[in-house]
Amino acid sequence: MRLADLAAADVDAALALWAATEHVAPVPRDELEVLLGRDERLVVAAREDDVLVGVVIGTFDGRRGWIQRLAVHPEARGRGVGRALVTEVESRLHALGCRRVNLLTFADNVAGQRFWARAGYRPAPAVALFHRQLDGDTGDVRDGSAC
Ligand SMILES: CC(C)(COP(=O)(O)OP(=O)(O)OC[C@H]1O[C@@H](n2cnc3c(N)ncnc32)[C@H](O)[C@@H]1OP(=O)(O)O)[C@@H](O)C(=O)NCCC(=O)NCCS
Repeated sequence: MRLADLAAADVDAALALWAATEHVAPVPRDELEVLLGRDERLVVAAREDDVLVGVVIGTFDGRRGWIQRLAVHPEARGRGVGRALVTEVESRLHALGCRRVNLLTFADNVAGQRFWARAGYRPAPAVALFHRQLDGDTGDVRDGSAC
């Protein structure tokens, strides 16, 4: 398994993986392109035998880091791909000066929450997510507009 920046040639495969992965909201292509155009290299892909098997988005707002849209292809799960992607994006965030990483999971993603607990993440039960659309979109959190 090899980790690298998500390449332009893998954008379609990454969008397809996100779209097919349970508990992960789809990623709009234009939003991904904005992220890939940034100086920070925080969109990381895992490849096995030249096939994209996992992908994750990191972002850093100068204060907090965020990990979003971690997805591993079902056939590649259980052999460390998810952990490796998280470790890599954490390392890149740390190198940018980030001291704390946050992430969101859907409330019913129990398996995902177990994964994050194994990776050292702790829940923040006192926190509630609020969101507001600025573009007139009426979609709710579940369709991915929140995160
Ligand atoms: C969650 C997900 C990314 C895990 O990827 P993976 O490559 O199978 O995970 P890894 O093999 O790296 O596992 C790392 C550790 O997490 C544990 N783990 C992984 N999936 C788990 C699960 N479903 N339940 C409990 N523990 C799990 C592993 O046992 C391993 O534990 P260890 O510390 O004892 O070694 C993958 O199952 C996935 O894509 N799920 C759907 C999308 C999703 O939920 N993403 C997170 C969104 S918030």
